[in-house]
Amino acid sequence: MNILISNVRLLDDERGVRRDVYISGSRIAGIDEKPEGFTPEVTIDGSHRLCMPGLVNAHTHAYMSVFRNYADDLPFEEWLFGKIDPLEGRMTPEQAYWGTMLSITEMIRTGTTCFIDMHMFPNTCVRACADSGIRAFITRGVVGEDRRDEGGQRRLREAFEEIEYAKSEPKAHVRFGLGPHAIYTCGEDFLRYVGELAAERQLPINMHLAETQFEYDSCMKEHGMSPVAYVKSLGLFHVPVILAHCVHLTDEDMESLCDPNVTVVTNPASNMKLGNGFAPVARMLKEGICVGLGTDGASSNNALNMFREMGLLTLTQKGANLDCLALTAEETLKVALDGGYRAAGLADEGGRVEKGRLADLILLDEEAPNFQPKHSMKAALAYSSTGFEVTDTIVNGEILMRDRRLMTIDEERVNGEVARAVSGF
Ligand code: NI
Repeated sequence: MNILISNVRLLDDERGVRRDVYISGSRIAGIDEKPEGFTPEVTIDGSHRLCMPGLVNAHTHAYMSVFRNYADDLPFEEWLFGKIDPLEGRMTPEQAYWGTMLSITEMIRTGTTCFIDMHMFPNTCVRACADSGIRAFITRGVVGEDRRDEGGQRRLREAFEEIEYAKSEPKAHVRFGLGPHAIYTCGEDFLRYVGELAAERQLPINMHLAETQFEYDSCMKEHGMSPVAYVKSLGLFHVPVILAHCVHLTDEDMESLCDPNVTVVTNPASNMKLGNGFAPVARMLKEGICVGLGTDGASSNNALNMFREMGLLTLTQKGANLDCLALTAEETLKVALDGGYRAAGLADEGGRVEKGRLADLILLDEEAPNFQPKHSMKAALAYSSTGFEVTDTIVNGEILMRDRRLMTIDEERVNGEVARAVSGF
């Protein structure tokens, strides 16, 4: 489809500069310069809009929206093993699908065009992506003791089968990796095995790491190494690896994470809500580590709203470091955009409003009261935005939300199905 966004402001533009953005198929076909033979099938009036790349929610568990506001204000271990795990064990794929659709609804409404998922229900996320049109990087969460562990083998098999299944869903814009859950749910040999499989099949790895003080202390006691040093020693950095959290780090860890294969994904709301602390994001950036931003699942956040997350990230970094320059508005946007696109393997394809890049774009209402006066749009996005200033969301050249109306999702149905799914909790 050919789409013209006319007279719109881009993020880096001075006040008063307006541009025309031409979209053809899945890509941006031109800025200000009309491509040859281009006739727009849809024209979006951008005169009161800001246009920017869609955000990448670089760590979440989309199916977990069904647990939103269900198990709050509990210690981490009790929350995960006492409340969430038992319910997850009884959850059906259909419930997981509707939970994922609910997450996608919130993400499209708040300007997320791609998310990195770790799930437990094969094929449900692929289906939800195909049905909604959003982009995703999907990893089936795997746990196991060692390479002979039957449960671990089954989960890995499901992960590989899902990659095959996705070929039957041509409308799903998805990529895949392997998702060893964490060092406290995966044994040493199992982690080594996952690393070998990932290298063999050229699949990135997505895992939780160094999230809690308890995890850090246990790893030091058991392996005599920090969590980062431990997974590095198992060969997990030989492929692109996404490390969610990284709250508890040593000086040596900072050096190890400064690796072209590593992207750390910070989740400030989840870390604070579960009482896990503040990831040293400002320092990581200074050390040259690539950092992206995620919300984590809806039971430890409890929103999947990347604008809210950006606000929390910058404010907590300033507060925790007693330094108002710890993370500027510009740096915050860079984390959310550059870090996210790299984590998703899209660094060269998306993340900029430029000719030839993916048409994964969002428009925001420049006239929103919390954006006035228009001194700095970057400050507005990092400090003032609620996420609901997003009016239009485009993924792969397809309009998923037009003037705040969802085009691919029946919201009422999603809410109803989710309510039905949780009625048995
Ligand atoms: Ni997580």
